[in-house]
Amino acid sequence: MTSCCDLPSRISLNHHLYSSGVPDKLRHLINDIARAGKYVHHAIRSSDLGLAGSENQFGEEQLKLDLLSNKIIKEELCESRLVHGYASEEEAVFQELVPDAPFTVVFDPLDGSSLVDCNLAIGSIFGVYKKGDVVGRKPSDQLAALYLVYGPRTILVYSAGKGVHAFFLNEVGEFVLLQRNLTMRDEVKTYSPGNLRAVKDTPAYRKMMNHWLDEAHTLRYSGGMVPDIHHMLIKGAGIFTNIGGSKYPKGKLRLVFECGPFAYIMEQAGGAASNGHKAIMDIKIEEVDQRTPLIIGAKSEVKRVSEVLNV
Ligand code: F6P
Ligand code: MN
Repeated sequence: MTSCCDLPSRISLNHHLYSSGVPDKLRHLINDIARAGKYVHHAIRSSDLGLAGSENQFGEEQLKLDLLSNKIIKEELCESRLVHGYASEEEAVFQELVPDAPFTVVFDPLDGSSLVDCNLAIGSIFGVYKKGDVVGRKPSDQLAALYLVYGPRTILVYSAGKGVHAFFLNEVGEFVLLQRNLTMRDEVKTYSPGNLRAVKDTPAYRKMMNHWLDEAHTLRYSGGMVPDIHHMLIKGAGIFTNIGGSKYPKGKLRLVFECGPFAYIMEQAGGAASNGHKAIMDIKIEEVDQRTPLIIGAKSEVKRVSEVLNV
């Protein structure tokens, strides 16, 4: 017998999690993170911009948006009661919350926050592990990963090991299914070359860049990794790089907060993510703030870029 719950006219995030068989506690946690995302969405739209250190009408000091987002997310994780501890890009040390809770959450509360005053898209990135510190573990130990991209629309993309699914935040404040099973083809079409200043002292990177120019691929680079990688996932093709150079010898992006969650999502979509030598998913976390080069996107192109960079 079918019930009215089987065929809803719109599929909410909770319904999708439930009907995909995501375990209850993880489902509740993802819903709690999504709620935090709604408050960040609201903060981005309603806060005064560029007024760090200034006072609001009540004489209280205003927080910059990245710190405010960190505070919002921390409070929601605390309220969830499912989070043993967390590590945030804004704090970079493991913080314990509820000793007997089952999960650890790692997050970048507001990636690309320097793009806010230009009104470009920005995002929040999350990875979920079993409880305990993440040092000594690998991104492949994640149980789920998700991100929110705050652009003209706010979109949430999650994977809990059963494909990658996108939701948009509707006007009544619910995440509603937009696209299920985002899938990467083995195709390039667009390229997003981050930290391009590294071509100055990395001839192989210049070679890669020239190859993409010669192939007449389309450049798609906003300077925010969330919208830039989201673009590839939605189009189902592309390559994104952010490799080291003299300014950031070990790479600019963080393994735990940025590359690990995206590697999990990209692999779930059928793409790949590497540091040029090793899959991001297999890199041991030595410290919470660890940096890594990142080559992410269509599988064969990740392999080809890695080979060119290693010559
Ligand atoms: O957090 C780092 C970040 O803002 C990413 O979102 C983005 O991909 C990267 O920096 C841009 O780096 P670059 O300006 O070196 O290309
Ligand atoms: Mn960041």
